[in-house]
Amino acid sequence: MNERRPDNMTRITNAELADAFIAEQITALKEQIGDKKVLLALSGGVDSSVVAAMLIKAVGDQLTCVHVNHGLLRKGEAEQVISVFRDQMKANLVYVDATDRFLDKLAGVTDPETKRKIIGGEFIEVFAEEARKLDGIEFLAQGTIWPDILESEKGIKAHHNAGGLPEDMKFELVEPVKILFKDEVRIVGERLGLPAGMVYRQPFPGPGLGVRCPGAITRERLAAVREADAILREEFAAHGLEGKVWQYFTVVPDFKSTGIRDGRRVFEWPVIIRAVNTRDAMTAEVENIPFDLMQKLVSRITSEVPGVNRVLYDFTPKPTATIEYE
Ligand code: XMP
Repeated sequence: MNERRPDNMTRITNAELADAFIAEQITALKEQIGDKKVLLALSGGVDSSVVAAMLIKAVGDQLTCVHVNHGLLRKGEAEQVISVFRDQMKANLVYVDATDRFLDKLAGVTDPETKRKIIGGEFIEVFAEEARKLDGIEFLAQGTIWPDILESEKGIKAHHNAGGLPEDMKFELVEPVKILFKDEVRIVGERLGLPAGMVYRQPFPGPGLGVRCPGAITRERLAAVREADAILREEFAAHGLEGKVWQYFTVVPDFKSTGIRDGRRVFEWPVIIRAVNTRDAMTAEVENIPFDLMQKLVSRITSEVPGVNRVLYDFTPKPTATIEYE
């Protein structure tokens, strides 16, 4: 397996090149892993999903995938992971619903960085607990991609995949998409039979909806942000904006305002809609959402999402705003 992307490597832009890459990697994976067992933390994101699909092809049930639901996933996400990997691809999938554990630890925590640390730390703990229950695992597969390696070499970002597990858990790493750029990973994923909605999905932060519930996360506000996000995604898809707008989501801030419902005064949250376009996420421009779509969103969100009486649109580019709210 190549340790580095060769300087003269052709960019994978079509099915033929992707198929050749897949065939090459499968041979290399079989050679590396032999008859041993491999473990993978499967988030449902593009990179880990593609690694899972590749390993299922290469070593079948020698692979065990662990999907940790931290309770901060979007509507339908855990269900999609189970349906694609367990039902369709027949993977060994351990599904852990750790929602209560995460939400209990996060209760009352308002500081954004502390929230991130709790989510990251708890994730490793749950994953390590599951790994200890399994016998004879020698390999840990990871969805590291080429930009991760370049960024960690430049010191921009700690290599987020490597490490983090307790000292006594030593595995040999398996990183079959390590030399690929994101666009290449997507084509490879499509050729491995993953659904387009999984392979071409918009970026979603590791701490999930947790950073879209600014301040202390409550189950009620989390339910509101999840439901509003599902409506936004559904309407963007219905209006042909899926795949055209780089990232779009909702935020439910921690304040209420007065409104009227069924002739009575109500005191409820607003939902903020964010929709941005960018090349590299360092700067971003706001999408010009058609007014009729905006009206549809307001109508659906205020009638379908409990506890919400207003919808706001964030017109702020990055900078000065970041894309996420925390
Ligand atoms: P910001 O908010 O910094 O976001 O403008 C830029 C891009 O990064 C994503 N993002 C994250 N991704 N963990 C992640 O995996 C995080 O903690 C995180 N914070 C932001 C964000 O969704 C956007 O695409």
